[in-house]
Amino acid sequence: MILYFTGTGNSRFAARRLAQRLGDQTVSLGQVFRNKQPLQFHSASPFVVVCPIYAWRLPKPVEELLAQGEFSGSRQLYLVVTMGASYGGAGSYIQKILAKTGMEYRGMAGVVMPDNFLVSFSMPDQNQALSILRQALPRLDQIAQTIAAGDALPPSSSKGGWLLSGLVNWGFSHFMMSSKAFTVSDACVGCGKCAAECPVGNIALTGGKVRFSNHCSFCLGCIHRCPVHAIDYKGKGKKHGYYLCPPEEKILSQAED
Ligand SMILES: Cc1cc2nc3c(=O)[nH]c(=O)nc-3n(C[C@H](O)[C@H](O)[C@H](O)COP(=O)(O)O)c2cc1C
Repeated sequence: MILYFTGTGNSRFAARRLAQRLGDQTVSLGQVFRNKQPLQFHSASPFVVVCPIYAWRLPKPVEELLAQGEFSGSRQLYLVVTMGASYGGAGSYIQKILAKTGMEYRGMAGVVMPDNFLVSFSMPDQNQALSILRQALPRLDQIAQTIAAGDALPPSSSKGGWLLSGLVNWGFSHFMMSSKAFTVSDACVGCGKCAAECPVGNIALTGGKVRFSNHCSFCLGCIHRCPVHAIDYKGKGKKHGYYLCPPEEKILSQAED
């Protein structure tokens, strides 16, 4: 079973590719969290969790799921993370969480995909994004082969892991990763796309107005997805542009636009 969490679609694309190669099914954790479904999963095949990296760690709701979820059938769990550049020491935190739950950690693999962190970076244009995503395909297929063979993914540690995934992540989560600084301009048309797609159900549309609750995962999906670019974080969307993973057919077709 391939469980995926996504803000802008990269991890869904990766999950679908792995599922196709492994002949397995995908489950959207966004749907599970949004609909407050029980965190109970049963799979005869190993669990594969696919998600983005946020500040050199897994998104908080995914770490919580790994700690609190009930996984039956297979006791093996692989992690595949999509990221702009690096995952720091994210794997060691997961290893510790899983050691407490009795699940067997089968390692973590990182796949470079377009970086959606508009707070710091300019977003790639469509051709740049397609090129990065196409380069990710052989990596995804290699990961699928390793999983299919029953082998472990290589252990995940990299230089600066503790500093980035510990201290810097702590700073990010305490001082940045909340929707408190999100703004909604008068351009909002009340279409509700942000609320419908928020992977943690942190957005509601009340009287046609967007309202944020207080458990934002900081996936930035609402900012990237807003069709009229009404949602922003300190003007960074306006400055750096927007990104959504292009449709699968477009990535898989070799035709350049
Ligand atoms: C809050 C936030 C923090 C991020 N931190 C990192 C990071 O530490 N390292 C990295 O390589 N990419 C980082 N990224 C980039 C995402 O991991 C990357 O774009 C990912 O593929 C997005 O996946 P999604 O489209 O499934 O949401 C960050 C993105 C966000 C929104």
